Amino acid sequence: MLEKVETWIAQLVDEVDYPAAADLFAKLAGGKRLRARLILTIAPEAPDAPLLGAIVELIHAASLLHDDVIDEAMLRRGTPSVNATHGSKVAIMLGDILYSKAFSALTAFDPSISRTVAESVTRLSVGEMMDVEMAGCFNADRELYLKMLYLKTATLIEASAYSAAVLAGKDADAHAIYGKNLGLAFQIVDDILDITADEATLGKPSLSDFSEGKTTLPYIDLYESLGISEQERLKAAHARLLEDAEKGWIRAKMEEHGVIARSYAYARTLCDEALGGVGEDPSLRAIIETVIQRSH
Ligand code: FPP
Ligand code: MG
Repeated sequence: MLEKVETWIAQLVDEVDYPAAADLFAKLAGGKRLRARLILTIAPEAPDAPLLGAIVELIHAASLLHDDVIDEAMLRRGTPSVNATHGSKVAIMLGDILYSKAFSALTAFDPSISRTVAESVTRLSVGEMMDVEMAGCFNADRELYLKMLYLKTATLIEASAYSAAVLAGKDADAHAIYGKNLGLAFQIVDDILDITADEATLGKPSLSDFSEGKTTLPYIDLYESLGISEQERLKAAHARLLEDAEKGWIRAKMEEHGVIARSYAYARTLCDEALGGVGEDPSLRAIIETVIQRSH
């Protein structure tokens, strides 16, 4: 079924009728296609599910192209980012082409779907803006962090699950709750892996979130666990390139205070909430497990 999504993605990019954009797009690593997989899992029989999956994946690809420009990231999924190889202007324009093409294709869907997906992209963009703003200083506000996370990452997954449920005639609100919590858990695991996974697995430097100014959940937990002088030491390491010894100190303190285990436990709680409304659907449980247990 995922092949049908790939075929739709190729067709939509082809319809743009600009070979330079198609060539650039072809070089991008496709990623896990989590959003399309989710849509196909919820609506396996719906004829329009592969097209909806392709649309959402194009929007996601566009958002990452723009995100790498904003984050000045040189690597994406282990390969040089488009902004690194072709410059920021090209990366932004390719993103614009992908998401406007996706929006054109979205107009063929029922307004309840097109509105939900379109509104989620506005939220996504607000979340990205909050993320950048929050990286300006050390954020220790957990609620603010979780709100930003919901907007930046969970909202498109929530919209995917909702829309797929509409296509399949299933309970859209329950699936939206599933998607939201899956999305939050996904991003929290992402935040953990930035700290625990090695650079070869990550495809980017480790602890890069903190270097980019992002105090993710494990850092907020750690900050709350430390005494005043160690809190100051942590703050002093924020938003700059770190020496190996500084990275070692952060990891050791996280270990000492059981911070990573706590973040995993929180992600697990979100997974339970995700499954609460959709019953014991084994395929939706399997997606949750791949998100929690992934190593990259
Ligand atoms: C990755 O965050 C970024 C996102 C999930 C969303 C980015 C959204 C925009 C740039 C809004 C514009 C949207 C469109 C459709 C053009 P991250 O930097 O925490 O994750 P990373 O480590 O994968 O870079
Ligand atoms: Mg980024």
